[in-house]
Amino acid sequence: MAQLWGGRFTKETDKLVYNFNASISFDQKFYKQDIRGSKAHVRMLAKQGILTEEERDQILGGLDSILADVESGKLEITSEYEDIHSFVEANLIDRIGDPGKKLHTGRSRNDQVALDMKLYVRDEIEEIDAELKKLLEALQVIMENNVHTYMPGFTHLQKAQPVTLAHHVGAYFEMFRRDRSRMADIRKRMNTCPLGAGALAGTTYPLDRFYTAELLGFDGSTRNSMDSVSDRDYVIELLSAMSTVMMHLSRFCEEIILWNSNEYRFVEIDDAYSTGSSIMPQKKNPDIAELVRGKTGRVYGALTSILTTMKGIPLAYNKDMQEDKELTFDAIDTVKGCIALFTGMVSTMEFRKDVMEASAKNGFTNATDAADYLVNHGVPFRDAHGIVGRLVLTCIDKGISLDALPLEEYKEISPVFEQDIYEAISMKTCVEKRETYGAPGPKVMEQIIAENKEYLKNN
Ligand code: ARG
Repeated sequence: MAQLWGGRFTKETDKLVYNFNASISFDQKFYKQDIRGSKAHVRMLAKQGILTEEERDQILGGLDSILADVESGKLEITSEYEDIHSFVEANLIDRIGDPGKKLHTGRSRNDQVALDMKLYVRDEIEEIDAELKKLLEALQVIMENNVHTYMPGFTHLQKAQPVTLAHHVGAYFEMFRRDRSRMADIRKRMNTCPLGAGALAGTTYPLDRFYTAELLGFDGSTRNSMDSVSDRDYVIELLSAMSTVMMHLSRFCEEIILWNSNEYRFVEIDDAYSTGSSIMPQKKNPDIAELVRGKTGRVYGALTSILTTMKGIPLAYNKDMQEDKELTFDAIDTVKGCIALFTGMVSTMEFRKDVMEASAKNGFTNATDAADYLVNHGVPFRDAHGIVGRLVLTCIDKGISLDALPLEEYKEISPVFEQDIYEAISMKTCVEKRETYGAPGPKVMEQIIAENKEYLKNN
């Protein structure tokens, strides 16, 4: 048991207590960030004349060698240390002796861990954003290739009006684009440096907190030392934004699972992204989509957990806050993994365009357009609605679609119908006439795709 304290204790810590208290099993995940923070701290201490330049260089050399040895596997992070901070400091003292004992001057583990967690979250936000961008690029390809792929658009999971695959996928493009902007917002708001806050009340050493902040790429320094060591808002914001990413992925997965079912047959998930059944030889299951949908609960769980942990904590640091790590780390890894797998799955998925188009035709998705035809010929919309309702009933009786109903039967229900009704209710017309900004019409869709391209180039 190697710990940084003990002077005022007369007994050894109970083994179970030690293990319960220790965080090294999980906070070793940010050894890089811990070393990065220590290096900046030491540079600042030397600049302020608190350490000599020689001490600074010895400490920096020691920290670099620890980093290199951990990365190469030569130095193992073991549970013999209480946390990653103790591990680094103890190893530093082993390596360089007395100057190593000066590393923690003007610092507490409270501001140190607040910094490490911020640095880690900031790095991970960038990785999540990069995964989201790859997903958007994959969606953009599907959109570009499917401006003319007709499919039913649904409301209440009932066929409603025809759209295109580009348009449907475009809806998800918007969601994941907003997710990226949420990541950027969080990064911006959290980007102040807590180091120098000390345990809670700052320090009597003449630290230059702004210099440390600058060295670590922060926009500035946190403004209240008590808040600095006890703020985990940005973790909650990230978990909330990641929950939203998962919610979006999960909705899309749910659709893919439906589309991949024998009943829909809109898509065929690639063999590489499907699994079989141990008993039923015919099965090809959408397990990846199901797992992504399932893991959404896990990320929501992390959000709920940390919100609950934080709600009763009086100022300033309390050990409860150590609970911010495991679930956040797990959630981050889960989200990154899910986005990457999902991207692979959608970009290899085959869309059965013929089945999608036939489904759009067979579900009366052009009924609104038939009513609009009547309106364009002077029939008030409410009457037109009733007339087309009766047409639909006739078609259901006969088991046919609107475009298969003979003109005489149209005329029987309303004499206004002429031969050009078939043109008016064709999938092509139904989609191509919908050219309001944001609608599935091909002209406006091409415009959106061009805007997406511009966005992906600049962001
Ligand atoms: N492992 C602790 C955490 O994650 C580090 C800070 C410990 N500070 C303290 N005063 N015990 O929060």
